[in-house]
Amino acid sequence: MRSFLVAGNWKMHGDSAGIKQLLSDLLKSLPAEPGIDIAVFPPSVYVAQVAADMAATPVAVGAQNVCDQSGQGAFTGEVSAAMLGDVGCQYVIVGHSERRSLYGESSQVVAAKAKAVLAAGLVPVVCVGESDAERENGQTLDVISAQLAPVFSALSGEELKKIVVAYEPVWAIGTGKTASPEQAQEVHAFIRALFAKRDESTAAKLRILYGGSVKAANAATLFAQADIDGGLVGGASLDAKEFSAICRAAE
Ligand code: 13P
Repeated sequence: MRSFLVAGNWKMHGDSAGIKQLLSDLLKSLPAEPGIDIAVFPPSVYVAQVAADMAATPVAVGAQNVCDQSGQGAFTGEVSAAMLGDVGCQYVIVGHSERRSLYGESSQVVAAKAKAVLAAGLVPVVCVGESDAERENGQTLDVISAQLAPVFSALSGEELKKIVVAYEPVWAIGTGKTASPEQAQEVHAFIRALFAKRDESTAAKLRILYGGSVKAANAATLFAQADIDGGLVGGASLDAKEFSAICRAAE
């Protein structure tokens, strides 16, 4: 059985006081022992503090981005996966559509980042998803395949067992337009089948999250789909009540 993961991507939101309040409210509204995995992804400057504050709680911490290079070196402005692990981070989002579209990250770079995250012993959450135009043109599954191809080339069979994939249709991110449970399920099943071509048992255990306007009102029907194993939540993760309701929907 796959355990559900509900992940809150805070994007570039929050400040010290607001984050303390959000986490305190969240801990009050979550069950003491949730039957699922829960993680929050603060902006990088807050990751260390949030990881320290959440150490004895059911809330794990992740980063939203990472350097594609391992080790240390002359990479001004970058943060390595090992550094994130050093401050208590467990997950790293790689290849979010905002990084692909706004910062020009190619699928090759995304795969290199996933590899660096694994090398540091952390879990990469590899994001894929098609644009509105690509869906309109019937290219959705080709786009997903092309985005995952470098991941399959760069990662070993053992490494593929450790990753999480998030399907986030770009047209559903921050738009209030959620993919229908059927649209999401179709792509999730396709992603699982791509993994199954490499290894059946890896595919059976792979956690595939859905992201794109997930909220308390639509979480339960999305999570009821056979191949949806949780959510990557943006806007709704900034509201403790809403995020905890999404976590409960996954339980
Ligand atoms: P929204 O939930 O705000 O649509 O954002 C989704 C997302 O990009 C999570 O990574």
